[in-house]
Amino acid sequence: MDKRAVIFDTDPGQDDAVAILTALASPELDVLGIVTVAGNIPLSLTTRNALRLVELAGRTDVPVYRGSDRPLRRSLVTAEHVHGETGLDGPDLPEPQTLPAKGHGVDFLIETVRSRPAGSVTLLALGPLTNVALALAKAPDIAERLAGLVLMGGGYFEGGNITPTAEFNIYVDPDAAAIVFGSGVKLTVLPLDVTHKMRSTKERIEAFRSLGNNSGKAVAAMLSFSERFDVEKYDWEGAPLHDPCVTAFMLQPEIFQGREINVEIETESVLCRGMTVADYWGVTDRPKNAFWVRSGDSDRFYALLTERIGRLP
Ligand code: BDR
Ligand code: CA
Repeated sequence: MDKRAVIFDTDPGQDDAVAILTALASPELDVLGIVTVAGNIPLSLTTRNALRLVELAGRTDVPVYRGSDRPLRRSLVTAEHVHGETGLDGPDLPEPQTLPAKGHGVDFLIETVRSRPAGSVTLLALGPLTNVALALAKAPDIAERLAGLVLMGGGYFEGGNITPTAEFNIYVDPDAAAIVFGSGVKLTVLPLDVTHKMRSTKERIEAFRSLGNNSGKAVAAMLSFSERFDVEKYDWEGAPLHDPCVTAFMLQPEIFQGREINVEIETESVLCRGMTVADYWGVTDRPKNAFWVRSGDSDRFYALLTERIGRLP
């Protein structure tokens, strides 16, 4: 089987964790590396968590690189209120024994994309877009060399989750997002419009636990922890599961529906900082720059995740 090469850029976070674990379990994907970014929690913790994940999956062959510790030109906003003080509260995961790889994650991104055949590496972004923007600014040639950038971020029909108009990843570093959305890279966006449909009901969490392996138990513990905030906020039966939509889109795009549209990022407004202004109805003639995913089949989504997590230790 021809594997597709991917690099994660991430701020784990329980939902980042499930996205990464799913990819590490999937023979269709060759995870070349994981680059961390400050987001849900500070960089030292996102890096620690990424290392804990590769160890949980028995995949310490996958290097973890430290990336940016703050947004391009704003103070860092974090989300311990959702993810807990460690960012990965829930399961009792041991301190990692593995160290981060040497060098900066942004350089790893650039060098890897340049050294591989054009069109062969896909970047999967699960956090604020600081590293991705820095890589594109430092090495604009990688926009064309990438097979694509698939990211979780933004929202249009569902509004925002950190302000009424902004989703967390875009809100934290809107300047970076503006660079990325204007870069010409082939972009696929998994916004709140679809992630809000992927709810981790009790049955779905139980299905992970019943797998009986350590990874399944860890995923169940993570989701049981991280869902409490959203369940209270939305009063839904389960919390949205955001970042795994990116991995699922890589594995089974037919689960999802969307369309090519223009998306611009609001960077100036106080009320609307980080809003993804998505021209879903084509009311402007601005150039289309993203495939915007609006919906997906949540049963197939959870079936895929559960089956893949079941392959791990
Ligand atoms: C996004 O924000 C983070 O808290 C999650 O990990 C996800 O990437 C959802 O808005
Ligand atoms: Ca994330």
